[in-house]
Amino acid sequence: MLVNTKEILLKAKEENYAVAAFNVFNLETVQAAIRVAEQQQHPVIIALGERYFGTVDVEGFASLVRQLAMKASIPVALHLDHAYEKESIVRAIRAGFTSVMYDGSKYDLEENTRRTKEIVEISHMAGVSVEAEIGSVALGAFSDEEEGAGTLTDPQEAKKFVEETGVDFLAAAIGTVHGMYKCEPNIRLDLLDEIRKLVDIPLVLHGASGTPDEILREAVVRGICKVNVNTEVSLAASRHLAESFEQEERKNAHLSTIMADMQQAMEPVMTKFVRLFMNK
Ligand code: 13P
Ligand code: ZN
Ligand code: NA
Repeated sequence: MLVNTKEILLKAKEENYAVAAFNVFNLETVQAAIRVAEQQQHPVIIALGERYFGTVDVEGFASLVRQLAMKASIPVALHLDHAYEKESIVRAIRAGFTSVMYDGSKYDLEENTRRTKEIVEISHMAGVSVEAEIGSVALGAFSDEEEGAGTLTDPQEAKKFVEETGVDFLAAAIGTVHGMYKCEPNIRLDLLDEIRKLVDIPLVLHGASGTPDEILREAVVRGICKVNVNTEVSLAASRHLAESFEQEERKNAHLSTIMADMQQAMEPVMTKFVRLFMNK
């Protein structure tokens, strides 16, 4: 069933596990995410980035997810990922998304606080929960994100930001990057501990792709409740398809076969992440 993201994450926080938020953009990616979550009997968050609002029919997409969620044997939430514009947030709320992420990380603390607070007011009126980010996650390789510079989250600022904005979940920048790492990852679990001590709402980790499994597991143990996963899943499928196109007959294959193949190539990677986050 489709449930509020907050419900999923408060339970995750209480029971000390995390839920994957898989970035999706079409039927096959949504099917893969729900199928994997059902196999593991673990909740899942379907995340659509604002950057796809130009190519994906947002309302059509939301009703598709609702239909698939209704049949699913696990809780499913529908989340707007990295939104920079208020219009996108309003559109997602109207379309039935269960949570939104307002990304004001490019602004200074005061401006980010002011803008985030306004989004929280609008969203809460509609019963939609809000994620926001302070500090900012840097950009690595092969990501579909656009922004670049990374700044680690300051724990004191995080506390103040959460109190003043009333956000439901906080994305903390602790050294992960969007996409694959260009150099050795330096993930500051100590910083996560500091933030956890001062902030009592569910914490979100962006940039799961390329992060060592043991670090992800440890981040969940230390209080991360939602982990965003994008690039690694996409790369697995792209690379599988690229390899398969080396066979001559594949070049004339029906597109439906290729799409089904794409979905199949994503699933084992998604399963790896879900199992890590289950913290069992
Ligand atoms: P990765 O692409 O590194 O998995 O990051 C995903 C993400 O943070 C989406 O918001
Ligand atoms: Zn992200
Ligand atoms: Na990453």
